[in-house]
Amino acid sequence: MAQNYRITLLPGDGIGPEIMAIAVQVLKRIGEKFDLTFDFTEALIGGSAIDATGNPFPPETLAACQNSDSILLAAIGGYKWDNLPRNQRPETGLLALRSSLNLFANLRPATILPQLVDASTLKREVVEGVDIMVVRELTGGLYFGEPRGIFTTESGEKRGVNTMTYTESEIDRIGKVAFETAMKRGKKLCSVDKSNVLEVSQLWRDKITAMAADYPEVELSHLYVDNAAMQLVRSPRQFDTIVTSNLFGDILSDAAAMLTGSIGMLPSASLSNPGQPGVYEPVHGSAPDIAGQDKANPLAQILSAAMMLRYDLNQAAAADAIEAAVVKVLDQGYRTGDIVSAGFETVGCKAMGEALLKAIG
Ligand code: IPM
Ligand code: MG
Repeated sequence: MAQNYRITLLPGDGIGPEIMAIAVQVLKRIGEKFDLTFDFTEALIGGSAIDATGNPFPPETLAACQNSDSILLAAIGGYKWDNLPRNQRPETGLLALRSSLNLFANLRPATILPQLVDASTLKREVVEGVDIMVVRELTGGLYFGEPRGIFTTESGEKRGVNTMTYTESEIDRIGKVAFETAMKRGKKLCSVDKSNVLEVSQLWRDKITAMAADYPEVELSHLYVDNAAMQLVRSPRQFDTIVTSNLFGDILSDAAAMLTGSIGMLPSASLSNPGQPGVYEPVHGSAPDIAGQDKANPLAQILSAAMMLRYDLNQAAAADAIEAAVVKVLDQGYRTGDIVSAGFETVGCKAMGEALLKAIG
């Protein structure tokens, strides 16, 4: 009997629906090959949810997510909603999704494919072979710490406040994910903090250092975040797995993504405790400037679906098959506009999808 999975689809805004449509086709085809079936439920998030309901993360969407084995998200946001009050912005919907599903561990791989080395803005000899996994804490730190707000002081001046906090248990659980991720990769973990200035980082460094005793095979190092940013562009191959807090991870994962030349290629996973559904999404945004024009690169969405199969659904062979199909279409010369270089023709989102279906067979 075919194994059946309940998947919530969150296409979101901008190019989201176009790339999600390709992912659904690819999953269906993979299902035929590996005897898997999917019950897809589509739900609203971000700007499209604001337009339909006034809320960027409606309760029906939360219920659908809680009721599924895994969640595939495309992208949210657009110029249209940029000037709304904070509680009605698409980003608020994304943060609510993360916190209400307890998605504390965000895995963002930055791998450079040999076919795309020349798409990087950095020199070939610097980026060739880069294979980094950024493990970003996703439900704590400056993004969620209290107190927060814009207050008025006694002298009548306004004062903006956010708070960076981490409890020991928050550091422990992300540390565990990071050490275990490093164990499955190159067994090197670099923890990034700002413990020369911040107490919260001092606690972070102390806890991560203490955990290393449980993972004697992992080579642990520490870097201050400013140095880590510099090292990432100076000699990125020194990194294997990086673990860091929410805001530092936001910044460093964008830098790491750009090493690879195309943010349009990178998937991510946001995970909760084992057995709880995770959210899988491309690292890139909703690209409203090219939405609806059949120009988007669907590959990050496709690779996110592969990560979903691997992590949430335990279907490694199906995930491998998707990843192999992506490599195959690149070898065949298919390039969307964001990854095209001299000698290649540009294809659209749909044509890339058709090539993928063919490659899967
Ligand atoms: C990301 C994004 C989000 C973040 C925004 C859209 C809230 O930049 O996923 O990295 O800051 O976490
Ligand atoms: Mg970001």
